[in-house]
Amino acid sequence: MIEMVHYSDIGLSNQVDMMHQALEGKYAIPGYNMNNMEQMQAILTACVKSQSPLILQVSKGAREYANETILRYMAQGGVEYANEMADELGLNPIPISLNLDHGSSFELCKSCIDSGFSAVMIDRSQDSIEENIKITARVVEYAHQFDVSVEGELGVLAGIEDDVVAEKTTYTRPEDVERFVDGTGVDCLAIAIGTSHGAYKFKLAPGESPPPLRFDILEAVQEKLPGFPIVLHGSSSIPPKFVDMINKFGGDMEGAVGVPEEQLRKAAGMNVCKINIDSDGRLAVTATIRRVMAEKPSLFDPRKYLGPAREALAEEYIRKNKEVLGSAGKV
Ligand code: G3H
Ligand code: 13P
Ligand code: ZN
Repeated sequence: MIEMVHYSDIGLSNQVDMMHQALEGKYAIPGYNMNNMEQMQAILTACVKSQSPLILQVSKGAREYANETILRYMAQGGVEYANEMADELGLNPIPISLNLDHGSSFELCKSCIDSGFSAVMIDRSQDSIEENIKITARVVEYAHQFDVSVEGELGVLAGIEDDVVAEKTTYTRPEDVERFVDGTGVDCLAIAIGTSHGAYKFKLAPGESPPPLRFDILEAVQEKLPGFPIVLHGSSSIPPKFVDMINKFGGDMEGAVGVPEEQLRKAAGMNVCKINIDSDGRLAVTATIRRVMAEKPSLFDPRKYLGPAREALAEEYIRKNKEVLGSAGKV
């Protein structure tokens, strides 16, 4: 049983404050997912070294994989680890929010809030808007008693959202957003403008470029909700260097393609103040493990391949913070 604790008592920061600073500063905070110790260390190292605020994300699947108690205490240890690193390097401590990614029910959100999360996402985007508003509002009512931030979602991204598989993107309808935000009291809103989860975001003919994101929808949402924090999911760029490395060392990821980074950079300069990235981290880790194992077939100490994978992941996320999200140097 995890002890009931408020996020501020374990050194986590208020995500609403972080998002409003990002809006003003015209950058997006990374929402990086973690499932194990090496991913968490790499994410924290990247954000401390690049001096970026961080939204550390745990999905329902991550809680099932790693165990909810372990993950929650790991995050607490992670805050101390990040503070010590910043101190040793003579850098500023970074604000960290711990967010439940794609929470599917009130009960799951409540359990995370009670155990020290500073933010939760309630994702009922597959439901009717009436049902989505009803359940999201219930989560907001509970969360706000503890100053916990809530993300809702309107519109459905193609791809996999935890165990729900959506065939086709249903773009967010700008005419729905005020009703949703007013009816729920959410602190930020995830919208569908053409991104999708996973490593195969677009089916492209040889030589064809990915279609542009629907900036017309983002602009219309921005007009309806001025100064309101918007979130983009499914925002991995699927760097070809990792796909090529995976394919070179025995993998098969033909046709993997992501969102062009210049489009994410443009969105980060608009009202998008949180950008979710998970698949790029999975690629960095998998590519490095495949390379190390192929080059040194006699290795059998997990530290010898997980260590280099951790370094590659930190390096990739430093690059993202600097070149894509614009969050580097903002603390
Ligand atoms: O949006 C989904 C995230 O990449 C988390 O994925 O549910 O497999 O942990 P997961
Ligand atoms: P990617 O699969 O594009 O990394 O998206 C991750 C995400 O949206 C997590 O919520
Ligand atoms: Zn997502």
